Amino acid sequence: MKNTAFAAVSAVALACAAPAAAGPQAEVLHWWTSGGEAKSAAVLQQEFADNGGTWTDMPVAGGGGDAAMTALRARVLSGNAPTAVQLKGPAIQEWYEEGVLADISSVAEAEGWGDVLPGSIAEHMKCEGKWCAAPVNVHRVDWIWANAALLEANGIEMPQTWEDFNAAADKLMAAGITPLAHGGQAWQDATVFEAVALGILGPEDFRKAFVDLDMDTLKSGKMAAVFDQMRKMRGFVDANFPGRDWNLATSMVMNGEAAFQIMGDWAKGEFLAAGKEPGKDFLCASVPGDGFLYNVDSFAMFEVDGEDKQAGQDLLAKLIVGPKFQEVFNLNKGSIPARVDVKLDAFDTCAHLSAKDMGDSADNGSLLPSYAHGMALRGAQSGAITDVVTAHFNSDMSSAEAVQMLADAVANSL
Ligand code: BGC
Repeated sequence: MKNTAFAAVSAVALACAAPAAAGPQAEVLHWWTSGGEAKSAAVLQQEFADNGGTWTDMPVAGGGGDAAMTALRARVLSGNAPTAVQLKGPAIQEWYEEGVLADISSVAEAEGWGDVLPGSIAEHMKCEGKWCAAPVNVHRVDWIWANAALLEANGIEMPQTWEDFNAAADKLMAAGITPLAHGGQAWQDATVFEAVALGILGPEDFRKAFVDLDMDTLKSGKMAAVFDQMRKMRGFVDANFPGRDWNLATSMVMNGEAAFQIMGDWAKGEFLAAGKEPGKDFLCASVPGDGFLYNVDSFAMFEVDGEDKQAGQDLLAKLIVGPKFQEVFNLNKGSIPARVDVKLDAFDTCAHLSAKDMGDSADNGSLLPSYAHGMALRGAQSGAITDVVTAHFNSDMSSAEAVQMLADAVANSL
């Protein structure tokens, strides 16, 4: 008798505990796993929950997102795509062509994205005229970060030219300090390479080489000079660089184990998460030369079954481009908002510099997509370039050989 009553009560309890009509759901694949990145991702997760959503986290560690993209491919091939995916640049259109991306135009139109996003960013979010991704931010790639105290103690100013950089690095080496914090992973090699390339080639030839894939520019003497500078950079890193994660390289600068890092402004997210202040503890400057290399993080929604998941996609897309989220997220992430109508009052001096330089470079034609972060080229071409950059960095290959190899690799990838 007792047992039967207990069973009946339990059945009622279980029925009550079962979820009522499920609200918006989203399984979100991303690669934001470092300290600053995770803090930023948590802002989105919280906002989704505050609006009734249930978030299933699918973080795939690995800076630059190569591992995340491999995981994505496996999920889509097995017919089980995640609901929302951190995806950017031409990869968005490549996935759309596979017929697996959802059209989020109804959200974009209801929210007036066309009025608040710069045209160049909006273009990246469109597939055959439809909105197929939601932009989170604008990261700048061509930055130098420095430990303020180390530079001061050694009488070094932030470099204005590559000669300045090399002279500063030689001075630091003589004082027993590692000049450049670097992690030997292909995407980090590519990040340093494109920052050096922008400085040495200048914006016009950068565009010819890494957007238009112009063979003459890829094989030019100026490109050989880019590899010459990369050979110098190789001499400025410590012996333990192979395989090191980018955020550990940032920690080296924070802790005074190295003076500089060349990295996108997600590095600033790390400094800030560790309580460091720009201008006081660390310094930021664009790399020597003109131009601005942009890297826009965005989310694409994959075709999935179920109204709860589709509601999750709409909610997520709406929140991502919302003004409050764009402010809070980017304050943590190190980037600046993609929306043009978010006030930057709460942002630091590095963010202000980024916004100003982005505006100026848009006006004078030197606003350029990052090849190393998948904004400029399709995967086959950017991968071919990065293979050569890494092969050169990790060997004693001459600049002349590297330039020939670069042109051949690009030609074979087309
Ligand atoms: C992404 C950033 C990320 C960085 C390091 C870049 O490609 O755009 O959001 O923080 O990789 O993982």
